[in-house]
Amino acid sequence: MTQAFTPRVFSGIKPSGGLTLGNYLGAIKRFVGMQGQMETIYCVVDMHAITVWQDPSELANATREVAAGYLAAGLDPATSILFNQSQVSAHAELGWIFNCVARVGWMNRMTQFKDKAGSSAEKASLGLYAYPALMAADILLYHATHVPVGEDQKQHVELTRDIAAKFNHDFKVDFFPRTEPVIDGPATRVMNLRDGTKKMSKSGESDMERINMTDGADLIAKKFKKAKTDPEPLPETLEGLKDRAEARNLVDIYASLSDSTPEAVIAEYAGAGWGRFKPALADLAVEKLAPMGDEMARLMADPAEIDRVLAEGSEKARALAAPILAQTYDIVGLLRGR
Ligand code: AMP
Ligand code: TRP
Repeated sequence: MTQAFTPRVFSGIKPSGGLTLGNYLGAIKRFVGMQGQMETIYCVVDMHAITVWQDPSELANATREVAAGYLAAGLDPATSILFNQSQVSAHAELGWIFNCVARVGWMNRMTQFKDKAGSSAEKASLGLYAYPALMAADILLYHATHVPVGEDQKQHVELTRDIAAKFNHDFKVDFFPRTEPVIDGPATRVMNLRDGTKKMSKSGESDMERINMTDGADLIAKKFKKAKTDPEPLPETLEGLKDRAEARNLVDIYASLSDSTPEAVIAEYAGAGWGRFKPALADLAVEKLAPMGDEMARLMADPAEIDRVLAEGSEKARALAAPILAQTYDIVGLLRGR
C-alpha cells in the first residue's frame, strides 16, 4: 500500500552572495506563487553555503539578506515557514543517514559538483561532494512532495527521489515520498546578460552580467541597455529565436516579469529593434524589482526583526521535523531513550 502524503512545498537558497534576478524568477517568485495553495516551507540553506569558504563575519548578514529577499518578494511568515537551516539540527542528522544511503557512484554523476569543483576536485571540501545528500535531507525531513527550483537543480531533486526509494526499499517501509521537482514558467534558467550560454549566477566575474535584487533603478536600466544582443530585430515567432541565446533570454525575462509567456511577448514585439525592446524591458524590470530592493534595504536596517522571524520559523520547522527524524531513527534501528 502506498502512503498518501500531504502536499507540502520545500525549497531553499544559499546565502553565498547577493540574490540575483535568476534566484528571483527561477525560485523566489515561484515560491510566492505556491504560497496559500499548500503548506510551504522556505529555508535559507546556510549549511549548504559553507561547502565553499564563507567569511564568518559576513555569513550571518548574507543569511539575513536572503530572508529579506523572501519577505520583500511577498513571502509571509504567517503563511509560510521561513527559517535558516543551521537552526534546525535535524537537517544535519538526517543528512548523515542519507550519506549512508546514497552511493558514491550516484554522487559522481552530479554535474553541479563537477562544474563547481572543476579541475581541482581533489581540493574541494567533502561537504561540497556530499551536498546533494544534505539537500535530500532538507526536503525529506518534512516529507515535502513539491520542490520549486530552477532547471540547474533538477538532477538534485531526482537524486532525492533515488535516495527516498532506496531508503524505502532497504528498510522495507513506505516512509519517504517521491518528491516532484516543480520547474515551470518562462524563466527556469535565466542566462548571463553578457554571455547567453552561461547561467546568471551570484559569482560571475562582472557585475554587469547579472541583475542583483538590491540594484537600484538606474543600475537595472543600465545593465539591460548594455546587455549583449545581436543586430537582428525580434522575429515574428518564437522559432526565430532558436540559436539567438541572448535575445531569447531577454524575451524570457520579459515574459516572466510580466506574468506572460514568451509567445505573447513575441506577438507584441514582432519586428521591434533593440532600441524599442530594451527600454521597455528596463522599465518593466525597474517597476517590478526596484520596490523589492527598497524593501530589502528597509528590512536589513532592522536585523533583530529578521532574526526574530527566522527564530520563530525555526521553532515551527523543528516541531515538524522532530517526529519524522525520530521515526527515521527507529526505522534504521538507532537506539534512543523514550
Ligand atoms: P542558489 O543561488 O544556487 O542557492 O540557487 C537558489 C535557487 O535559485 C535554485 O532553485 C536555483 O535553481 C535558482 N536559480 C539560481 N540561478 C538561477 C538562474 N540563473 N535561473 C533560474 N533559476 C536560478
Ligand atoms: N542546492 C540548491 C541550490 O544550489 C539549494 C538547496 C539546498 C535546495 N537544499 C534545498 C533547494 C532543498 C531546494 C530544496 O540552489
